[in-house]
Amino acid sequence: MTGADLGLGLRLSRQAQWNQTETDWRRFLELGGEGCFIAELDGTAVGTTTTCIFDSVAWIAMVLVDVEARRQGVGSALLRHALAFLDAKGIETVRLDATPAGQPVYEKLGFQPEYLLTRYEGIASRSDTEAHTEQATAETLAEVSELNHRMTGTNRATLLSRLFADAPQSMRIVRIAGRLEGFITSRPGANATQIGPCIATAQAGPILLAETVNRCAGQRVFVDVPSDHVRAVQTLEAKGLKAQRYLRRMHRGKPIRDHVEALWAGSGPEKG
Ligand SMILES: CC(C)(COP(=O)(O)OP(=O)(O)OC[C@H]1O[C@@H](n2cnc3c(N)ncnc32)[C@H](O)[C@@H]1OP(=O)(O)O)[C@@H](O)C(=O)NCCC(=O)NCCS
Repeated sequence: MTGADLGLGLRLSRQAQWNQTETDWRRFLELGGEGCFIAELDGTAVGTTTTCIFDSVAWIAMVLVDVEARRQGVGSALLRHALAFLDAKGIETVRLDATPAGQPVYEKLGFQPEYLLTRYEGIASRSDTEAHTEQATAETLAEVSELNHRMTGTNRATLLSRLFADAPQSMRIVRIAGRLEGFITSRPGANATQIGPCIATAQAGPILLAETVNRCAGQRVFVDVPSDHVRAVQTLEAKGLKAQRYLRRMHRGKPIRDHVEALWAGSGPEKG
């Protein structure tokens, strides 16, 4: 996949009613480089997938097949191709967040189920919070990446730098006694503002989530949280957001030990 295929990507993500914008697709291409692929059926482009490598871990995203071309093996062929690409690079772990349509395809290719994520959706409402967040800066980005690495077991510095560059004002951090305790960001989507990623301690998580929902007051928002993360779920339900759909986080290869309790919002189900 190259920049010339952006139109295909946007058409397929809109057809599936996904939330990605052109900015998101450009970010996938920039981070994924030569690891983003399209599928052709009888000479017509009908499918996409992207990969993003973070050291020895890779994420697969944007697995989309045109409705007219489904159930003919295109999705599986795209996945096999992407996995061969990642295997050739010596990647130890491949992860993704599967929709119910995608999960059986991934299971057949050796992916193991991990935890469930719930997508919360609604119109963000404002409420009083004693928020103590500050805007992230280029100088704090290294600390943000280090905290993320410690909590998720994955060095996502490239993704976080890119999300920061896209919207510096949206990346917020919390410090307690001078120590970085968490960060959050958000970005516009085709259907709603996507809130996340948010990686934080038990003290900082509710502050970051509640304040970001406040900042989005009046807008439709999506937030993806581990379904068993009771405090994150309570924080979002207190804001009137409702569970909309579920995604299964999956991996192939070496398991990653992430601290699920520090995951207050995923970066979006289509990219982990
Ligand atoms: C999920 C998705 C990518 C699958 O793409 P696809 O091209 O239909 O996938 P495949 O054809 O390889 O496999 C799908 C099914 O068709 C079956 N199949 C494959 N080749 C077939 C053939 N020649 N004849 C009949 N069935 C076939 C597969 O066994 C599989 O069956 P299962 O669902 O019972 O396991 C597609 O449905 C899609 O784009 N959905 C919307 C977006 C989405 O949810 N993406 C996944 C994100 S995680």
